[in-house]
Amino acid sequence: MIRSIVRGSGSALPKRVVTNAELAAQVDTSDEWIVERTGIRQRYIADDSETTSSLAIDAARKALEMAQMDAKSIDLIVLATATPDQTFPSTASRVQAALGCQGGAAFDVAAVCSGFLYALGVADSMLRTGMARRALVIGAETFSRILDWEDRTTCVLFGDGAGAMVLEAADVAEEGPGILASRLHADGDHNELLYVDGGPSTTGTVGKLRMKGREVFRHAVVNLAEVLEEVLQEVGVGAAELDWVVPHQANARILDATARKLGLPAEKVIKTVEKHANTSAASVPLAYDEAVRDGRIKPGDLVMLEAMGGGFTWGASLLRV
Ligand code: UT7
Repeated sequence: MIRSIVRGSGSALPKRVVTNAELAAQVDTSDEWIVERTGIRQRYIADDSETTSSLAIDAARKALEMAQMDAKSIDLIVLATATPDQTFPSTASRVQAALGCQGGAAFDVAAVCSGFLYALGVADSMLRTGMARRALVIGAETFSRILDWEDRTTCVLFGDGAGAMVLEAADVAEEGPGILASRLHADGDHNELLYVDGGPSTTGTVGKLRMKGREVFRHAVVNLAEVLEEVLQEVGVGAAELDWVVPHQANARILDATARKLGLPAEKVIKTVEKHANTSAASVPLAYDEAVRDGRIKPGDLVMLEAMGGGFTWGASLLRV
């Protein structure tokens, strides 16, 4: 059977680290509140020279290096972002030009924090139907640019970064590697709980992020547990058989609550939220890459990726490394 196999991963972070203490000097917050409510201790914030595309290009190059593949052999780039360099063309086309990939397709997908799962689902479908052979799937964000730095309920939660995977279509045996199943969902009824108050066709401005965190939290735990069960059932494996879960890194308490709901031990959940904060579409590939490079995720492991975000959108993918 034809499957999309993950051949490599890479990630990139801005140079500048901003600690909770630094934020507490600007807004009415404290390290204690942020750590207790979210698990976040610091985040990386892009300077003027760092953009969504520059982070994406850096992450993509590292993923290609791990995969030992030439950028010219890539015939599909799907990039998830809610903070593109420009309204158009896509940030994916900037990445394509910088890497020197030619001839294939390149486009962005917008599903905010679930963006990487959406991008992975789209790329996987295109690879399995023969529309492309080798894909770069990227999640990249500079959320710092759409934060209201005077709103303590949101500005402490997010950070910037990028993560990438190289996928290749290959004919494999049933028990072989690759993406085994994915499920994506959206419920457009909750716009007012998580949105940006601007855009080209409404205000003509970029706008700032607005969120009713407590309500988003409630939906996140329920939706994530449901979609994880859905994917497990589709493949016919139990939660106990998972080697790792790589969740969207929004809040350590969401990660813990979801793991508890599934009966998963906390040690199987990859957590980077304390260092990266919430990097939206970048968070899953950033966490995945970190766990591959430090030797936790190994060939043959069964790994669940999952995310939930604005829209609402949510999804999960199960892969054998
Ligand atoms: O990635 C997309 C998906 N996003 C998420 O998944 C985010 C989900 N939500 C969350 O992670 C949590 O709801 C938050 C971390 C955003 C908030 O935690 P919470 O435990 O739900 O707190 P809360 O919003 O109920 O606020 C509790 C109190 C409030 O004060 P009062 O009204 O009780 O007096 C807030 O004003 O904490 C106050 N507060 C803060 N205090 C210090 C809110 N933000 C801060 C802050 N520092 N930064």
